[in-house]
Amino acid sequence: MQKDLEKASSRREFLSAASQVTKVSALAGVALPHVHAAENNTLEVALVGAGGRGTGAAGNALSVDHGPIKLVAMADIVPKKLSDSYDKLKTQFGDKVDVPAERRFLGFDAYRHAMDALKPGGIVILATPPAFRWVHFQYAIEKGLHTFMEKPVTVDGPTTKRMFELADRASRKNLKAAVGLMVRHCRARQELLNRIRDGQIGEIIAMRAYRMGQRGGTAPPKPPEMPEVMYQLSRFHAFLWASGGVFSDYYIHQIDECSWMKGAWPVEAHGLGGRHYRGDSMDQNFDVYSVEFVYPDGTRLFFDGRNMAGARDEFASYAHGSKGSAVISTFAHTPGLTRIYKGHHIPRVSNRNQLPLPPDPNVVWAYPQPEKSPYQLEWDDLIEAIRKDTPYNEVRRGAEASLVTSMGRMAAHTGQLITYEQMLNCPHEFAPDVDKLTPDGPAPLQLLPNGKYPMPEPGIKIDREY
Ligand SMILES: NC(=O)c1ccc[n+]([C@@H]2O[C@H](COP(=O)([O-])OP(=O)(O)OC[C@H]3O[C@@H](n4cnc5c(N)ncnc54)[C@H](O)[C@@H]3O)[C@@H](O)[C@H]2O)c1
Repeated sequence: MQKDLEKASSRREFLSAASQVTKVSALAGVALPHVHAAENNTLEVALVGAGGRGTGAAGNALSVDHGPIKLVAMADIVPKKLSDSYDKLKTQFGDKVDVPAERRFLGFDAYRHAMDALKPGGIVILATPPAFRWVHFQYAIEKGLHTFMEKPVTVDGPTTKRMFELADRASRKNLKAAVGLMVRHCRARQELLNRIRDGQIGEIIAMRAYRMGQRGGTAPPKPPEMPEVMYQLSRFHAFLWASGGVFSDYYIHQIDECSWMKGAWPVEAHGLGGRHYRGDSMDQNFDVYSVEFVYPDGTRLFFDGRNMAGARDEFASYAHGSKGSAVISTFAHTPGLTRIYKGHHIPRVSNRNQLPLPPDPNVVWAYPQPEKSPYQLEWDDLIEAIRKDTPYNEVRRGAEASLVTSMGRMAAHTGQLITYEQMLNCPHEFAPDVDKLTPDGPAPLQLLPNGKYPMPEPGIKIDREY
């Protein structure tokens, strides 16, 4: 998939796509705003960012069993991503996908055309790399649209402040806005939270979370014909401006779920990390991270992240209390398999093949199986809120989760203690002109004379990450 993206993003193909965009955009301006016939109660959806998750989210939207719903417009910057996504959704959902060629838009302004194709009260899915989130959300609010946006929603302090302001603006217009921290909608985690609040593990003393896998966030050198901006976006996990790197993109879920169980956001982080085996990868990530997050009452979350082939895998979150312990995530996001143990002996799972776990006399409660996927539940909940017109805005919470994740990342990247306030007020905006980005224009990250991108250097660069 990555290869296709790179191929499709070559300068030649992009420029030919750009001429299609002009054609399509011209049409959009004339005839399109609300051309498709819809029953009055049909919810109309547009997808911006038709990659893996965007396609998945659109599928979840179309699977909600709560009245008629249709996908009516799509936007991306890479022709093949757009066509693959369309083909997949059309095959799976048939008439629920009503996106003729003239409502499939390409280019950096495609998001506008896709949203222009919706009436106020429609829903837009924002599933591009997070750098564009505030730009696209701002336009969605202007157009009176409900939003589903993927996490992270910000990667630095200045855009977090902007997101806080946009969250309030959406609420003032009674627009519903969901953030793809889907674990918050998992019924097994919700039940665990009730039990923790009920005191079943006592006071939380410490939490641990691990996201350790084989690889991630690398970027082979740029193919010569590929425009710099398209290259960096095709490998967005590799570049901090585009994604916050693997730290923000991968680790936010577990930092969020632990903070949810704790009932607070961490106020300070201390972190370590380093690069060992990145080879000729051009990315800005470390391949190991270890971060200690401090909560207002002094309790800690110890988080370990690793992307290293051959090392042991673990993808789990645990809470330890004064009366027992709990598993928040067992291996990956779903199923949660949440459990409460007496004592603190929790078996570690390195591989899905270890599931289901054998009976354990220390387990005092376990969520009954099977569980519904939280990726579907987050959509069931959003659509119910839209249909019943109940308040629904997860953006402030999503921006806070994004900010505390950035706080951990900055602590590791600078080698400093970083507080919530320092992160929020750090003036380094990673991509200040991201709303004006063009495929052939300058990228937010520039190569140094040594042919490398600027890298975090803990202890040397201490006020900003690169
Ligand atoms: N909640 C989850 O568990 C989960 C899982 C996977 C991804 N995600 C999030 O979803 C987002 C997308 O990730 P993905 O894995 O789908 O990546 P992807 O590369 O498969 O998809 C991103 C798509 O956005 C397009 N794009 C980039 N810039 C654009 C722009 N300015 N306008 C329109 N389209 C643009 C790309 O061409 C690509 O098709 C990320 O924020 C990621 O963190 C969330």
